[in-house]
Amino acid sequence: MKKFILFLFALFSLSASAEDGHRLWLRSELPNDVVEKIDPTMPDDDGYRINGHTITARTKMGLLYGRYALLRGEQGESHPFYKLRILNHWDNLDGSIERGYAGKSILWNNDLVIDHEKIAAYAEANASIGINGTVLNNVNASPKMLTRTYINKVKEIAGILRPWGIKVYLSVNFGTPKALGETKTADPLDPQVKRWWQKKAKEIYTAIPDFGGFLVKANSEGQPGPFDYGRTHADGANMLADALAPYKGIVIWRSFVYGAKHHGEDRVNQAVSEFAELDGKFRENVILQSKNGPLDFQPREPYAPIFDKMQKTPQMAELQITQEYLGQSWHLVYLAPMWKEFFTFVKPEKLVGIAGVANIGLDKNWCGHHFSQANWYAFGRLAWNPALSSRQIAEEWLKQTFGNEKGIVKSREFASAITSVMLRSREACVDYMMPLGLHHIFKFDHHMGPQPDGYIARYPIEWCPVYYHRANGDSIGVDRTHTGSNATGQYPEPYCSLYDDINTCPERYLLWFHRVPWTRRMNSGRTLWEEMQWRYNQGVSEVEDFIHIWQEARPEIDEQRWREVNDRLQRQLKDAKEWRDVCLGYFGKLQEKK
Ligand code: GCU
Repeated sequence: MKKFILFLFALFSLSASAEDGHRLWLRSELPNDVVEKIDPTMPDDDGYRINGHTITARTKMGLLYGRYALLRGEQGESHPFYKLRILNHWDNLDGSIERGYAGKSILWNNDLVIDHEKIAAYAEANASIGINGTVLNNVNASPKMLTRTYINKVKEIAGILRPWGIKVYLSVNFGTPKALGETKTADPLDPQVKRWWQKKAKEIYTAIPDFGGFLVKANSEGQPGPFDYGRTHADGANMLADALAPYKGIVIWRSFVYGAKHHGEDRVNQAVSEFAELDGKFRENVILQSKNGPLDFQPREPYAPIFDKMQKTPQMAELQITQEYLGQSWHLVYLAPMWKEFFTFVKPEKLVGIAGVANIGLDKNWCGHHFSQANWYAFGRLAWNPALSSRQIAEEWLKQTFGNEKGIVKSREFASAITSVMLRSREACVDYMMPLGLHHIFKFDHHMGPQPDGYIARYPIEWCPVYYHRANGDSIGVDRTHTGSNATGQYPEPYCSLYDDINTCPERYLLWFHRVPWTRRMNSGRTLWEEMQWRYNQGVSEVEDFIHIWQEARPEIDEQRWREVNDRLQRQLKDAKEWRDVCLGYFGKLQEKK
């Protein structure tokens, strides 16, 4: 216990303004009369019970989680909903981060120097919200990851994370043995290849006995995979699963298959096309991991139907904490409402765990935007308890982030005004970027900003924004009903019929599933075109209001963080206006031309 307090103190005994620049939600004040008890009769997990200042748990980790819960002001009993609460780092071994917006990797650099202090601080932050696993490298994995040099580094990192209850996992490149020149092929049915992976598993587990397992992106966006040898995803996943099984390791196989195999098939249909027939064919230690929506982490997508299609395969949801398509680290967008929306379609009990694509980097405030920390926080809290509300998580985070050592914010008005900004921010983002079911009209490559006219002939058409809205002078949207690509047919009832019929399809998904004349009357009485203008303007005026609220909050917040957030809000407003003006300008012109 003493060590715990000391550690926190060391972390936060910085000068006031430096502290605020670095500050995470953790605070240093644990009451000094805390009593901890181990109770072996409690349920078999890392849950805890808090009664006054007494924490009871079955495990040591439970006691640790209980301490943080006490700091949050919790009382009563709480148990983790998911066993697997895993961050996915898209960190490359050279220190760059795929879709990372908070500086370089805290884990990797070309000099192979491991920053123990930083990683321990990261581990503690994760433990404080119940995260218990982390994938250390990008899903677009380098074969080098499995060389001895790097395995030794993973061992070193695992040693830092272990006391905080965090297991390490690695993304693996399916072609590794061949790429390293150690086998002639990476065919999963080749005996030499199987032996290679078995030996590799042994080597890893000798170094890291509690290693979690592999995460695999195969045959997607150019990555190697079993299709290269005429094999299935099940052949590939099962071969790796067999290699890990003696050590109780798992294979987390991704269904994000954006692949060459489909020759023109609607991208949103590809996962179900590839995986549905494999249901029941995976080993017990294989988990299928799918993004929440069928496309790619857009500000709003309908849920991915693969979650219903696979009935016999354990599944995890992959949520993106890093805001690749939601303003990156420039926009204040609180993601809990988006994830809660997903859980209204995919019941949490359908899943065996959740993964979150991390937004953490070497930036002083860890996540680029102070409010992006809230998304890391919310991911952990929802993985522990998906029944928590977005509001409750926002309030908890705010108190711990902007409150004093006792978690008290100066005024209630401040807390409720900022909570309201957070709760409205995702819908605002949808409105100023892509309302009414629009999607993927982002600028090429970096995904920051609008490019509705995006078309490059040498690229496959499904990389081009015009493919996702198909607007002309008469209509806009993609026909994904039974008369089009029949994405609606991948959903069970009632969603299949609901989405298929333009009259019952919720307007928030309208242009996702339907091709709609600009003149169609919407629920509001406005035409589609008027509604679109209204929504874009609404998104912008929300951001104006956020800025206004932030101005009023100035006396409540230290100057450094106030200014940093304010600068970003100004940028957010500029971007929101750009989205509005570019999109309305482009769609408006199409109609004029007619
Ligand atoms: C998106 C993202 C890529 C990433 C991919 C994935 O397409 O832009 O950078 O590699 O998702 O999830 O594998």
